[in-house]
Amino acid sequence: DTRETQAHFERTIGRDQRIEPRDWMPDKYRATMVRQIAQHAHSEIIGMQPEGAWITRAPSLRRKAILLAKVQDEAGHGLYLYSAAETLGADRSDLTAKLISGGQKYSSIFNYPTPTFADVGVIGWLVDGAAICNQVPLCRSSYGPYARAMIRICKEESFHQRQGYELLMTLMRGTGAQREMVQDAVNRWWWPSLMMFGPPDADSTHTAQSMAWKIKRHTNDELRQRFVDMTVPQADALGVTLPDPDLRWNEERGHHDFGEIDWSELKRVISGDGPCNAERIERRRKAHEDGAWVREAAAAYAAKHSDSGRE
Ligand code: 3HC
Repeated sequence: DTRETQAHFERTIGRDQRIEPRDWMPDKYRATMVRQIAQHAHSEIIGMQPEGAWITRAPSLRRKAILLAKVQDEAGHGLYLYSAAETLGADRSDLTAKLISGGQKYSSIFNYPTPTFADVGVIGWLVDGAAICNQVPLCRSSYGPYARAMIRICKEESFHQRQGYELLMTLMRGTGAQREMVQDAVNRWWWPSLMMFGPPDADSTHTAQSMAWKIKRHTNDELRQRFVDMTVPQADALGVTLPDPDLRWNEERGHHDFGEIDWSELKRVISGDGPCNAERIERRRKAHEDGAWVREAAAAYAAKHSDSGRE
């Protein structure tokens, strides 16, 4: 019936309606959705590591509890997204194997170190702030299960961003050394946060097609600009300077102009040559191996009980 045809698919996209798992879809649409959802999920799971390192060293019980909740949320975001990928026929263990072997990517941002506790605040403020900029439009992405996962994830991300900003506000009201610690972290995370939005539109492999299929609702550069415009007043309120001498308000554009991003750094980090790539993947591989017995036990239990169910 018509559901099976390209025409139905295009009409659905054209009407801003959602494609659901049982709808017919072009193979390329399915493939690019698995690619983006899987890499988004990988980003959430790897993203647990930079801050996780501070759970045992948080300066107070309150900060430890907040960080525990946030890292646990990231794990949950990963699981929602792997489940969304499975509705497209992907296999979760296959996706994990691809992550560990380098066959699929995760966000470049998680390959940077977190040497001080101010990094936890700056990750919440800038990294989760950038993620929110990127993820709110994805709530209207054309693939149903992905868009619905985003709605829940965005709610939790706003808590992540607020707790980070509040942590930095507290440090900025502290000693000179604490204020310097915040500025140092801002200096290290500002440019990598801009790179989270992907290469410039002119160099983006997928943006044109992803916009046509309404997977993306804005381009990489549009969302990057939105993030810069949103963040500058927050930096002013915090009392930190963003490390970009070319950053200034442009009245005609109604946006902030900002300096040139070092795209060679993004290419290097994406290709595995960032400060922490090897450590992040090694940690993920080891966790996967250490968990093999749990998966085997669960599979054996399921097999045994499904047999007994047949008696
Ligand atoms: N890090 C790693 N890889 C990146 C990247 C980055 N910052 N930016 C782009 N790439 C990769 C793309 O995946 C693509 O490679 P591929 O073909 O092997 O997948 C290539 O570079 C070309 O980039 P494109 O712009 O053409 O690719 P996309 O159209 O997929 O755009 C994206 C990239 C904007 C990241 C898009 O995939 C997207 O919006 N993904 C969903 C959001 C997401 O993954 N966010 C991760 C941020 S961290 C996070 O959400 C956790 C939160 O809790 C902090």
